[in-house]
Amino acid sequence: MKTVSARHQDRKALLGLFCSLNKIGKDICLEYARLAAIDAAIKNHEIKIAIDNEIIVGTIVLTPIRNSIYISALIVKAGSRKKGVGTKLIQEAIKKAKRLNKSKVVVETAFVYRAKKFYEKCGFRVTKKHYDCWALKKDV
Ligand SMILES: CC(C)(COP(=O)(O)OP(=O)(O)OC[C@H]1O[C@@H](n2cnc3c(N)ncnc32)[C@H](O)[C@@H]1OP(=O)(O)O)[C@@H](O)C(=O)NCCC(=O)NCCS
Repeated sequence: MKTVSARHQDRKALLGLFCSLNKIGKDICLEYARLAAIDAAIKNHEIKIAIDNEIIVGTIVLTPIRNSIYISALIVKAGSRKKGVGTKLIQEAIKKAKRLNKSKVVVETAFVYRAKKFYEKCGFRVTKKHYDCWALKKDV
């Protein structure tokens, strides 16, 4: 398994992964808008993907905001979970933070995802409990 920057040809597969997480149905206008957002993020080198046997098994969006790298849309394909893919993608976030001289990696994870323990295992700690999500951070 390797991690690389997402390429233009990955956009449809990424859309499928994002939609699988939010159980979003098919809507051609929304699909167009989402693909445009994915295109912009790919162009800004914000999307990393994990590839196993030429199949995308996970993705993470890493956006620099002030002195942080902000994680959004960390998703590992259902059949590929608990095999270290998520941890590998988090390592990409840390690498990017170091490369861009940021002091921390931050994430907000909705309660419904039940991912708090995963982030804590990766060394994050809770900084705030909002009404629907945990805010966590990891200093780098
Ligand atoms: C959360 C998620 C990204 C974790 O990815 P993963 O590839 O399964 O994680 P890893 O295999 O690297 O797991 C690392 C450790 O965290 C644990 N872990 C993983 N997911 C967990 C979860 N949901 N709850 C508790 N522990 C979890 C693993 O058991 C492992 O522990 P170990 O080191 O003691 O064996 C993945 O389950 C996923 O895509 N979930 C749906 C989307 C989601 O919730 N994204 C986060 C939204 S911000």
